[in-house]
Amino acid sequence: MKKLNLAVLISGSGSNLQALIEACAQPDYPAKINAVISNRPGAFGLQRAEKAGIPAETIDHTKYATRGDFEKVLHNVLGKYNVDLICLAGFMRILTPEFIAKWEGKIINTHPALLPRHGGKGMYGEHVHKAVLAAGDAESGVTIHYVIPDVDRGEIILQKRVKVENGDTHESLAKRVLTEEHEAYVEAVRMIAEKKS
Ligand code: GAR
Repeated sequence: MKKLNLAVLISGSGSNLQALIEACAQPDYPAKINAVISNRPGAFGLQRAEKAGIPAETIDHTKYATRGDFEKVLHNVLGKYNVDLICLAGFMRILTPEFIAKWEGKIINTHPALLPRHGGKGMYGEHVHKAVLAAGDAESGVTIHYVIPDVDRGEIILQKRVKVENGDTHESLAKRVLTEEHEAYVEAVRMIAEKKS
């Protein structure tokens, strides 16, 4: 089986990365992670990568004057790892249209809500769950989607739904969404790999 070569981009804990590491450890899973890249030094996900024996690199965005300068380095680092698909997994940087054009159709993201609801600039992490609760939505969930310049508007690969419970806080909702997210990400990468093979 020819495996899909992944680069996973993170900024923090990397629990979605962990789900992908565990899936890729299964011999019949059609993808492998060639590199993990963090824009934040000390992101916990870097330790997860090292523990799994995956090359881990940090590109600290604060060291670059412009988004473009940061992305030039990112593009070059990705070039070392024979990457078929870039998986954004809690990567908290918006990518420029120029970068996205270089990797057209090869970047996917996980978003912790049912897009197109509660997406776009400024909608990440706890802001998303707070917005879901403030809107009084009966359900939330996760969306795995392709990345296009229009933030959180790319083609949806799959969604999983989560009920909003009475008394939910943004923390309790985030926790349940994250559990679904792990399964959804693993499933979405499998779908893409199987389509390509
Ligand atoms: C995930 O819930 C992901 O959807 C969210 O950050 C969390 C990262 O968790 N991403 C966004 O909000 C992007 N808009 P993780 O680091 O444990 O995988």
